[in-house]
Amino acid sequence: MTSSELRRGFLDYFAKRGHRIVPSSPLIPHDDPTLLFANAGMNQFKDIFLGQRVPEFRRAASSQKCIRAGGKHNDLEDVGKDGTHHTFFEMLGNWSFGDYYKAEAIEWAWEYLTSELQLPKDRLRATVHHSDDEAEELWAKIAGIPRSHISRHGDKDNFWEMAEVGPCGPCTEIHLDMGADRGCGRPDCGPNCKYCDEVHDARFMELWNLVFMQYYRDENGVLTPLPETHVDTGAGFERLCSVIQGKSSNYDTDLFMPIIRATEEKTGRGYVSGVEGTPFRIIADHMRALTLAITDGGFPSNVGRGYVLRRILRRASRAGRQLGLREPFLYELTNSVVDTMGSAYPELEERRTHVATVIKREEEQFGRTLNRGIDQFETFAAELAATGSKVLDGEKVFQLYDTYGVPVDLTALMAEDMKLTIDLDGFNRCMEEQRERSRAQAKFDRAVTNFGEGLVSEFVGYDTLSTEAQITGLAEGAIVLDQTPFYAESGGQVADVGELFNAEFSFEVTGVQKQGTAIVHFGKVTRGAPSVGMAVTAQVNSDLRGRTMRNHSATHLLQAALRAALGPQVHQAGSFVSPDRLRFDFTCGEAVPPEVLRQVEATVNARIRENLAVNISHSTLDEAKASGAIALFGEKYGETVRVVRMGNFTMELCGGTHVDATGQIGYFRILSESGVAAGTRRIEAVTGVTAEELAREDRDRLARISAILKVGVDDVEPRITALLDRLKEIERELEKAQTAMAGADVDAWIREAGEIGDARLLIREVTLADPKAFRALGDTVREKLGKGVALLIGHDAGKLSLMLLVTDNLTSRIQAGKLMNELAAIVGARGGGRAHMAQAGGGSPERLADLLAKAPGVVARELGI
Ligand code: ALA
Repeated sequence: MTSSELRRGFLDYFAKRGHRIVPSSPLIPHDDPTLLFANAGMNQFKDIFLGQRVPEFRRAASSQKCIRAGGKHNDLEDVGKDGTHHTFFEMLGNWSFGDYYKAEAIEWAWEYLTSELQLPKDRLRATVHHSDDEAEELWAKIAGIPRSHISRHGDKDNFWEMAEVGPCGPCTEIHLDMGADRGCGRPDCGPNCKYCDEVHDARFMELWNLVFMQYYRDENGVLTPLPETHVDTGAGFERLCSVIQGKSSNYDTDLFMPIIRATEEKTGRGYVSGVEGTPFRIIADHMRALTLAITDGGFPSNVGRGYVLRRILRRASRAGRQLGLREPFLYELTNSVVDTMGSAYPELEERRTHVATVIKREEEQFGRTLNRGIDQFETFAAELAATGSKVLDGEKVFQLYDTYGVPVDLTALMAEDMKLTIDLDGFNRCMEEQRERSRAQAKFDRAVTNFGEGLVSEFVGYDTLSTEAQITGLAEGAIVLDQTPFYAESGGQVADVGELFNAEFSFEVTGVQKQGTAIVHFGKVTRGAPSVGMAVTAQVNSDLRGRTMRNHSATHLLQAALRAALGPQVHQAGSFVSPDRLRFDFTCGEAVPPEVLRQVEATVNARIRENLAVNISHSTLDEAKASGAIALFGEKYGETVRVVRMGNFTMELCGGTHVDATGQIGYFRILSESGVAAGTRRIEAVTGVTAEELAREDRDRLARISAILKVGVDDVEPRITALLDRLKEIERELEKAQTAMAGADVDAWIREAGEIGDARLLIREVTLADPKAFRALGDTVREKLGKGVALLIGHDAGKLSLMLLVTDNLTSRIQAGKLMNELAAIVGARGGGRAHMAQAGGGSPERLADLLAKAPGVVARELGI
């Protein structure tokens, strides 16, 4: 059975049992700060478990893209060492939202594994939470498993939590006995064996986890029961695949082999299982994580999830070095990932080039950093060798990490190569200190109260900017209404501002956010006091809203115009719409050439003049996509989507507020085009009043410039060109004059110079002009000296600058470069040069007297006098 068949078969199995098949949520969670990456199938249902969203269906199943490489669930360090741990993996899952519970969950998991997949029953084991008698009974009854094959475990193994804060509950797991030749070898070995933990490839492999969601754990660690009980399951897809395909390692399945084969081709080396194969496995695993995460909007950077991706890429790159690959190569392997996974996750195909571009640039950058880091590591290692110690101290490891970006695991590997160890505790202390520092700096604007539960606000702001409403929720600086025209910040559009008021009370709204089903107005009371039940008028600031709407509608026109000019591979990568301006980020490998930018601007303005009607409709996501609407990739859309169409020019799914017809935008003007990250460009633009103001400012500025130049507006350019030419000419003249002045002095210096034998000796302290002028002076001296040696000593802000000149007729007897070494040493300066001219810098002016005293003797000796 191929992996695709397995994935499809699982979903079909649960579809037949009344489950809605939902697509995987993106790896990069857009709306959950407690989560680095999607780490379980249940992430996208978190708000359902918490009672904040009423599901449109009560059973669901999916294959979910997950990354566990940071945060609560982290498998990064284990990757490649065994055949079962991954950073990126797929989780097959089925869910009940307040519908079926333990019995069905256990029954279907059992039936799927033993009937559909035909796994041998006697090799399966069940684990249950030590408090869960019910689950144990169900296993015995439904599956007929002997009691000896059911074991009880504590919270560590059988209580599942999504993150430090969030929904959680006891769980039961199904493990597969991989055979007595694996694992710790003890006769009493079983699931979650602590001895097996110490060896890789444990004997019992967890296949499927069935969680009975019952609680919410808050910031203080306190558990409160959820409004309803739910089922949340997760089966390791790669593990199932290896079992079904009869492989002993996930890496031997059709999910990884194409990547490993491609790596073999690149390196010319063959893959073997076992320790030598580790770099291949690391690369294969990491390439999947990188390709999938970057496709979903992830980006290597220095913070948060970006840093995790950077670390993953660097580990892969380092593994490549172990295989002899020193040039960027990972970016080419993305193709084998896209080819393998593209049918299950079509977004991969769409972003193929973008992902390769991002990875290539990051590899190149890492190559440069790593080379510097390796140099530094070698310096440290040499220093260490001198002391005879074998341990690289934590501060050095931290310095490599912090300054050169060398991940600590790479340092450990390099150290291992040199039979050194690293002081990990010391490193961790440095990390903790740094974290403390940044914690102290960070200020979080946290909403004081969470209104998410229980309150429902209706948004009426598409049709009106003012409404009568009732206060239904209240906290310091926060008010919830039963209905409101205020747009809560979302989809890149900023929140409305305005006022809530009545005869006795007034509240200035400065921010609006959605919390679950509630729309919360943040701001401050300026008059009276609010109370729950109070009737108020909610009034949005219409001028600012109008500006925002113009910018938002223009953003749609801009996206369509960009795609028309550059091609459909252009995708929105981010957008920000405020009253002042709009910012649109999009995937594009190269800077947009100025002429294309002008064309895009002209297209948008042409569509504005056509005054296209803006048409809003609602349909299902599939219908909307089928009719060609642009959906923002990775966005979570509900059952019904809102489609915003402007004539036949653009159709996008969007919840934002828009003008009625494009003519209202007035005028669209691009301010800038720039790169924000590899493969991502940004356009900033303004519309309407702001664009008009800008045009006026430009005109006024030009008028001021022409007044300063005292020419008409049309003559400004030729006038400036003429002025710049004149300036250059004056600079040249000035230079000549300075040299001439220096030359004038030189004649006098030469007359006053001493003599040594048949040669002149000129020693002179000069006021140091810039280095160019100093050298010009040197040339003049040499030309005029006839036959001799000159030492010029320049002072500048306590620093010395020495120049030694030897006329051509003496260079056979005396070498300026060589002599300079000796003279410079007297003042502690360093330098050198050629036979006729040498320079030196540094040294201390206090030792100048010494130099002046010794120089004639040194020159005389050199001349053989
Ligand atoms: N959410 C559960 C897990 O990830 C099923 O193991």
